[in-house]
Amino acid sequence: MPDPVVLLDRVSRTFAGTTPVHALRHVDFRLEAGEYVSVVGPSGSGKSTLLHVLGLLDEPTDGLYFLDGINVALINDAERTGLRGDRIGFVFQDFHLLRHRTVTENVLTALLYNRFPRRERHGAAVEALERVGLGHRMDQTTDKLSGGERQRVAIARAIVSRPSLLLADEPTGNLDTATSESVLEVFDDLRSDGLTLVVVTHDETVSAHAARHVRMVDGFLSETTSGRGTR
Ligand SMILES: Nc1ncnc2c1ncn2[C@@H]1O[C@H](COP(=O)(O)OP(=O)(O)OP(=O)(O)O)[C@@H](O)[C@H]1O
Ligand SMILES: [Mg+2]
Repeated sequence: MPDPVVLLDRVSRTFAGTTPVHALRHVDFRLEAGEYVSVVGPSGSGKSTLLHVLGLLDEPTDGLYFLDGINVALINDAERTGLRGDRIGFVFQDFHLLRHRTVTENVLTALLYNRFPRRERHGAAVEALERVGLGHRMDQTTDKLSGGERQRVAIARAIVSRPSLLLADEPTGNLDTATSESVLEVFDDLRSDGLTLVVVTHDETVSAHAARHVRMVDGFLSETTSGRGTR
């Protein structure tokens, strides 16, 4: 059996302070390749903290995290950065694009600091943009794009390195319903191609696209449904 993409074993994340914040409490979570999971829960319940830990932007204060079978507590900072660049794609609510750069340049920024072969970078950017339906916008600067197009550029940037895990934090939070649909269709396609997806959302419509649903409450994670094809 291949390793799960994600295995969290009683992971906790406590933020120190006069009143310590228990953002994650004893979280067990296993994610197989190709799963599409939504994460819902109240504000402050630990959803973003969970994504940051999964995306190697933050570390557990307790418990173990295995990414593709690798115990990430045992690797050094350079290895961690390399692993993040190779295996993780991140999509944020507010896109995080460079405004005065072209669509293609924005996608290429994801490959600047990883081990992706230099000669294959441009072709990979074109391929990623075609996958999100933006093959015709490659030379446009991003300030001239609609919100939905911007988010699709951000998705292309997140998938260009061919990660094993795509993490999205409220990816449709700044989009209207019609525009959100174009982003959700892209996620559906990526899922069909075998990518593993974790999407944090407060929107039921967005959550319904996932086959598996988890809920965070006060740092605790619980499974609300599981199994494929619940849509
Ligand atoms: N860097 C930090 N330092 C201290 N406390 C933090 C930090 N990051 C998050 N927290 C706290 O951890 C808890 C969980 O925060 P988190 O951002 O994960 O919540 P969330 O579920 O994503 O909320 P929202 O829906 O509002 O985005 C909150 O109480 C938050 O204030
Ligand atoms: Mg959050």
